[in-house]
Amino acid sequence: MEDHHIETLPTDIRNLIDRQSDHFTSTTRAAVGDPRDWPEHGLAWLCLEHFQFSRRNPSFLQQAANNTRALTPNGISDELERNYEEEKTHAEIYRRALGDIGIDVAARVEFAPTTMFLDKINQLVEGDPFGTLGAMYATETAAIFEHQVFRDISVELIARRNAGDRGKRLVRFHDMHLEGVEQAHKDNLGVFLRPSELPDSDRGFNGAMVNEGASRAISAMTEWWAELLKARVSG
Ligand SMILES: [Fe+2]
Ligand SMILES: [Fe+2]
Repeated sequence: MEDHHIETLPTDIRNLIDRQSDHFTSTTRAAVGDPRDWPEHGLAWLCLEHFQFSRRNPSFLQQAANNTRALTPNGISDELERNYEEEKTHAEIYRRALGDIGIDVAARVEFAPTTMFLDKINQLVEGDPFGTLGAMYATETAAIFEHQVFRDISVELIARRNAGDRGKRLVRFHDMHLEGVEQAHKDNLGVFLRPSELPDSDRGFNGAMVNEGASRAISAMTEWWAELLKARVSG
């Protein structure tokens, strides 16, 4: 993966990244399996770890917006800033929604692979700006998959805990993202991955670096999920 994609880099970077994302999400979804086969504490624990990304995501977006300000095509930074404005209140909604069904995010014990994963994304939003663009496109793409997976997990947890109406805010939180919010984040960044279609194109657009940033973000997510699933097996 590391060295063949440079020579064979197609002009359609977006399609190349989407294929890597599809591979990550389909294999991870299969590995998670049916939430009904999970112990209740394992499902609750996954939610706590997912919350960590939700908590950090606004700072990643803000850093990414700062880091991409000088890029052409123009508008990348503005889109990331808009995304930040939209996401900045979400962790608080998520925290309360989890609390409604008895999951206390303050009671979490640090899980080192989650810390490492967040560090890797942090490096990408502080590194080469074209790499930042690719990384953010990849994480916005993965957000759709994550909200689907965590909606299913939440529905199962609510049933196991007989939480009924108390779980409505949590399901609503995931539905809100799936009703177009995350698709728009992906698509609105995606236009910048086809610079030839933009008016201020061909001024140093580094497609190889965009792809590199996306690949590194997808690898980081793949490794994180592998550790989450390994922790389930070891109890
Ligand atoms: Fe959000
Ligand atoms: Fe998003």
